Amino acid sequence: MKQGIVALVLAAGQGTRFKSERIKVLHKIMGKSMLQLVVDCVQKLKPEKIYIVVGYQKNEVIREISSPYVNFIFQQHQLGTAHAVLASRKFLKTEKEKDVLIINGDLPVIAPETLKSLLTFHRREGNCMTFMSAELDNPEGFGRLIRCENNVIRIIEEKDATPAQKKIKRINVGVYVCRIEDLLQALPKISNQNKKGEYYLTDVVEVISLQDKKTGVYKTSRPEEVLGINTRLEMAKAAELLRDRKIKALTDDGVTIYDPKNTWIDLDVRIGMDTIIYSSVIVEGNTRIGNSCQLFPFVHLINSRVGNRVKIFSSTFIEESIIEDDAKVGPFAHLRPKTVIRSGAKVGNFVEMKNTTFGPRSKAGHLTYLGDCEVEQDVNIGAGTISCNYDGFKKYKTYIEAGAFIGSGTELVAPLRIGKKAYIGAGSTITKDVKAEALAVERATQVEKPGWTKRKKKK
Ligand code: UD1
Ligand code: CA
Repeated sequence: MKQGIVALVLAAGQGTRFKSERIKVLHKIMGKSMLQLVVDCVQKLKPEKIYIVVGYQKNEVIREISSPYVNFIFQQHQLGTAHAVLASRKFLKTEKEKDVLIINGDLPVIAPETLKSLLTFHRREGNCMTFMSAELDNPEGFGRLIRCENNVIRIIEEKDATPAQKKIKRINVGVYVCRIEDLLQALPKISNQNKKGEYYLTDVVEVISLQDKKTGVYKTSRPEEVLGINTRLEMAKAAELLRDRKIKALTDDGVTIYDPKNTWIDLDVRIGMDTIIYSSVIVEGNTRIGNSCQLFPFVHLINSRVGNRVKIFSSTFIEESIIEDDAKVGPFAHLRPKTVIRSGAKVGNFVEMKNTTFGPRSKAGHLTYLGDCEVEQDVNIGAGTISCNYDGFKKYKTYIEAGAFIGSGTELVAPLRIGKKAYIGAGSTITKDVKAEALAVERATQVEKPGWTKRKKKK
């Protein structure tokens, strides 16, 4: 039987244990906020609707979470997880016959399959309410599961637990499925008479259980996923798990990763077959890398496109740029936003480019800055060439046409056009356009004073 389900994500709390000015669930792991990770996961269950309860920094949360299916519910004061669910009463009321999946917004590692298993279990058992539990060696911080007489189940929060109860290893994960009608009946019966003075959603379990409605516990076989993030250290652990998952997926698809523990590749990054990634590489955002590339140690890429057979040598930083097939970049290169390196071009060490298109097979081997330049094919840029693109007020463009040769130590004062196959003599400061196939040299005549050193020493 296929039955509709509504999802409710709790994300109104500040997350005080996280010690941040920013709400906890917006902190990012591998390029995505924790809350987005939870929403993405829930989305895979294809619920009819996804509601997110927001409160603390609600505007920031609404701005950051992108999903066409999401509706936001406002919980003005954060008086506990049950209170958060109560805030959504108005919306849930219209779907009484359905089930709601409630999930804490700080469970970024949970996999869709785990949620699906919970749902299947819930339906197979014909439960009114089912919640997910896990067995943890270190259950500290979690609510603990207790079975009282008559099989009534209770969840005791860490703060309210006795030393004996704290030893219990069966914990509450923070994911629940409940028939909406039963949930709405139970919620008003919950009090805040506990150590935190909060309305605990976990108390619903006991209320429903006491009403002789069928309540069940689904124990997950993947306890590593249930990590609720309360502290920064827990976030680091979650990142490690997600990182391992991403690396597994990439290597399964034919990417070589030499040092998985020291490689960070954001979840949305795509990499083609036979690409090799050396140690300590970071690839962020929506970067795409083609086939048979090589990324050497300490390469850092952000939101960039890389073609096939590209080599990026050590310690190179590339942001919002495009590198086409067979190009070579680095070591120690810096490509800033809107740079395009055309196929077969070579960008060598200590070269910086910004908003520059660098033509096919062109070369800038050493110590160069090109900003706002359009460089055509087969151009040679000598060592130490600098584009002077900024006069303190405006930025100007430099055009270098096909086959031009720029001598070492040249300053190109924009706006400027260097014609086809033109030559610039080394050490020139070029302020005027140079015609095709011309040689331009701008240099003071060399002066030589014989015996000058000796005379100076005598003084
Ligand atoms: C909760 C559970 C605990 C479980 C643990 C799993 C309760 C009472 N306890 O504890 O049994 O083991 O999760 O990680 O539910 N929130 C709101 N509004 C509020 C309060 C919280 O939206 O008024 C949201 C938070 O933003 C968070 C989620 O609910 O995403 C859980 O709240 P949190 O304070 O982290 O609960 P825990 O103490 O971790
Ligand atoms: Ca939590």
